[in-house]
Amino acid sequence: MELDGRVAVVTGGTRGVGAGIARAFLAAGAEVVVCARRPPDSPVVSDGRAARYVPVDLRAPAAVKDFFAGVARRHGRLDVLVNNAGGAPYRLLRDGGPARHARVLELNLVAPLTASLAAHGLLRAARGCVVMVGSVSASRPSPGTAVYGAAKAGLESLARSMAVEWAPEVRVNTIVPGMVRTELSHLHYGDEQGIAAVGRTVPLGRLAEPDEIGDAAVFLASGRAAYISGASLLVHGGGERPAFLGAATVNGAAAGGSAGAPAGATTRTTDDKEG
Ligand SMILES: NC(=O)c1ccc[n+]([C@@H]2O[C@H](COP(=O)([O-])OP(=O)(O)OC[C@H]3O[C@@H](n4cnc5c(N)ncnc54)[C@H](OP(=O)(O)O)[C@@H]3O)[C@@H](O)[C@H]2O)c1
Repeated sequence: MELDGRVAVVTGGTRGVGAGIARAFLAAGAEVVVCARRPPDSPVVSDGRAARYVPVDLRAPAAVKDFFAGVARRHGRLDVLVNNAGGAPYRLLRDGGPARHARVLELNLVAPLTASLAAHGLLRAARGCVVMVGSVSASRPSPGTAVYGAAKAGLESLARSMAVEWAPEVRVNTIVPGMVRTELSHLHYGDEQGIAAVGRTVPLGRLAEPDEIGDAAVFLASGRAAYISGASLLVHGGGERPAFLGAATVNGAAAGGSAGAPAGATTRTTDDKEG
């Protein structure tokens, strides 16, 4: 298989997007280590093989260093680091003091840097790669998760610079997911009806599955991406239809497809007027 004999670490690989990434690496043949503060509810498995879980708090640099030393002892190498652990509760800027907002920055920007630095020597020796997990929140307003969006923007910038500093031995790229269906989706979108309604706002008509983010991560880690470094890969099902198109009273079908005008609507164009 594509990643036979390779060793991958997926931070936050115990649930959600990270578990999907861990499964995709297992399916590609890699040995996978997942880390988080708490163990997974059930082992992360694919094709009859399981990821190894190691507890670590990524906000504790000394523990992160020990964690990678343990990976080196146990597996003898490290080919891929996926900096996936991240996230933030919904909190308006005015509802949190600087210390709470700084915790969000710490998890989503500082922790991936801490892990990357601790893993660099191993990745360099293996001519490996780092895959950052960003978010579309990095490039659009992110009310309620403003600091998270800022951290993810910083993460993409960090990845681009890291890709230059660590070339040619280590490639560094960012996956930029849109909305992903996880065990916690109801916290963001409500019940099944809410999740389906949110899915219909995406051009591809649904949220991503965690394993689909995993497939993108495997691609970036594989030999097929050997010349890709410093890049950001959008995995967002087509993105967001601009909200103003729904409010405008002209050109209702301008965006086309199911996200455009209601079926049967006609669009009056300049040609219509002149014709
Ligand atoms: N879900 C989405 O729609 C979506 C969209 C775009 C981007 N993303 C990105 O995808 C990544 C995963 O998101 P998710 O939705 O799967 O989140 P999630 O379900 O909350 O999972 C987060 C993972 O990170 C671990 N983690 C959190 N804090 C940690 C810490 N201090 N030290 C070690 N591990 C820690 C968690 O385990 P413990 O709590 O046990 O530590 C868990 O395994 C994040 O970077 C997120 O920004 C998600």
